[in-house]
Order: sequence, then structure tokens, then C-alpha cells
Amino acid sequence: MLRHGEVGDRRRTERFLGRWLGGSARREEAAAAANREEGLTIAIASGKGGTGKSFLATSLAVTLHQGVAIAPSRWRDTNRRVALVDCDFGLACDHLLLGAKPIKTLQHVISGGARFEDTIIETQHGPRLIPGGSGVQRMANLGRAELAVLGSELGALVCEHDVVLLDIGAGISPQTVLPMSCTDHVILVTQPEIAALTDAYAVIKCLAAQCQRSPFSIVVNRVAEAGQGDKTFEKLAEVARRFTGVELHYLGEVLEDPAVTQRRLGQPPLVVSHPECATSRSIHLILDRLRAVVGSFRPRSVEPSLGFGARFQTQLGQLF
Ligand SMILES: Nc1ncnc2c1ncn2[C@@H]1O[C@H](COP(=O)(O)OP(=O)(O)OP(=O)(O)O)[C@@H](O)[C@H]1O
Ligand SMILES: [Mg+2]
Repeated sequence: MLRHGEVGDRRRTERFLGRWLGGSARREEAAAAANREEGLTIAIASGKGGTGKSFLATSLAVTLHQGVAIAPSRWRDTNRRVALVDCDFGLACDHLLLGAKPIKTLQHVISGGARFEDTIIETQHGPRLIPGGSGVQRMANLGRAELAVLGSELGALVCEHDVVLLDIGAGISPQTVLPMSCTDHVILVTQPEIAALTDAYAVIKCLAAQCQRSPFSIVVNRVAEAGQGDKTFEKLAEVARRFTGVELHYLGEVLEDPAVTQRRLGQPPLVVSHPECATSRSIHLILDRLRAVVGSFRPRSVEPSLGFGARFQTQLGQLF
């Protein structure tokens, strides 16, 4: 039983705790208010060139757009979308695959002659495209100041979209590693051949050393027969686990499909023209598995100091 003095003590303690708890709740509310929403960022990368990154990036962007557009009320409320940034700085081609004719590209942004908003194309198949520069040698070797501009533009872009896909050039140069090291997720596109697998492993090793980063997913493209992708993935996953401690997720395989290679300029992507074909179904399956890995294709609340732009500037400081 409490004695008289102790009741007073308890009331004083409760009043103090009440004020403290109230203050802490207000602090939490203020912190939450300071947070902002950023779209999910996904890099599509590879070690070796020509594995099918641009094919996959454009197919995923169009399919994701269709998925997001199914919820029109949320769409109108937030005016968010799917954006694809062609970060293959020297040899960009996503605009060709999406039937777009860029006027300004990343080349203009990086040289200070434009903002992202001046380059954005609303493609006829849905996703927005920030086209890359093509055939510009200087774009293939960007310096610190140019990359800093890219980081700040990307930081703003992710606040305006549900999902931002980055089609990254092949290899492990600073300008490919940097965006990859900042995205929420990396999809590595490989093929069932030793050179592509070795180069995919090199990217995993490089990123694991560069930053304690988020998970990688693997897509095995251009497989000759069903199931070859699964076996290829198992080999790569085993090597990555043993030598880097990195766990890989498997998103699926895409069969070698002449309809992909034979696409002519101006033809819509296969996921639009033949949504029921085996290749388009593989893209849907890849997206289903990706959703299971990343949780959802919705924006997430982040503290500005931990957002994409801040991560980019931190990684940039470490690279140069
Ligand atoms: N599943 C597939 N079946 C048949 N051809 C494919 C398939 N995927 C991609 N291709 C073809 O492979 C070639 C390279 O594809 P893509 O340009 O997408 O590769 P990339 O990784 O973006 O290349 P780069 O490293 O040069 O950017 C293209 O001609 C494309 O049509
Ligand atoms: Mg490409």
C-alpha cells in the first residue's frame, strides 16, 4: 500500500512522464513530417555488355507502368509515375526501344544546359524516359562535378515518381558503380555463358566492397531451354555466397527469342504488342518475384539525410 508522501511522488512522476511522453510523441511527429516520400529505385546492370539490360529495363518500365496505372485514383492523387533513366551515358538506346525522339538528353543535363525536367519524355507506352546521350565520347567518362549534377537531379526525380529504373551501362567504371551503389535494389542481367557470369560476379564483388549494400537480384537472359536459367543462377549464387557472403535473389529466366532481336525501329516493345507471348510472361513473372523481394512498388518515407540524393553524394565522396 502507498503511503501519503509516496502518492504525491507518484503523481509528480506521472506528470513528468506524461510531459516527457507527449514531448517525445511530438518529436516523432515532427521527424515524420520532416521525412519525404521517395520512389523505389532499381538499377538494371551487368558486368558484360549486351546481356539484355536495355531490353529488360524498357520491358519492366512499360509493364510496371501498366501495373501502376491500374490504380488510377492513387495515380491522380499523387501524380506519381514510373520513370526510366538511360544511364548508359555513351551508348544510350532506350529511346529507340520506346519509340521516343529526344530533343534534350542527359548530355545536356550533365553539361549544365538543361534540367531533368527539360529532357523528360512521356513515352507512348507509358513510362517517362530521361534519355541518355548517344555517341558522345565525353559522356563515357564523367568527372566528379558532372556526376554531382547527375546525383542531385536523380535525387529530385525520385521524389516525383513511384518507381525509378536506372538502365546502367556495362562494366565497373565509377559512373556505373556509383548509381548502382545508391539504388534500393540492383538487378543484374546475365547470360548462361562463362564470360557473362564472371563479369556479373565481378560487379557483385566490387559493390560488396564499395558499400554494405542492399540485395542483388539476378535475371538470366537468352537461355536456350527452360530451366537453364535456374541452373546458371545456382552456380552464380554459390560463388557469390562463398567468396563475398552476398545472398542473391533469383528473379527468373528469359528464353532466347528471335522476336526480341528482330524488333524493328518504331515497333512497340514485345510486352505491348504480344503481352501473352512467353517472353512477356517471363517479364511479368520477374516483376512478381521482384515485388516479393522489395516489398511493394510504392514510394517509401525516408529522412532526407538518408535519401537517394544524400547516398549518391556520400558514395561520390568515397569514389573521388
Ligand atoms: N531474350 C532475348 N532473346 C533474343 N535477343 C535478345 C534477348 N534479350 C536481348 N536480346 C538482344 O540482345 C541485344 C542486346 O540487348 P540489349 O541492348 O538490351 O543489351 P544491353 O545489356 O543493354 O547492351 P549494352 O551493354 O550495350 O547496353 C539486342 O540486339 C537485343 O535485341
Ligand atoms: Mg543497353
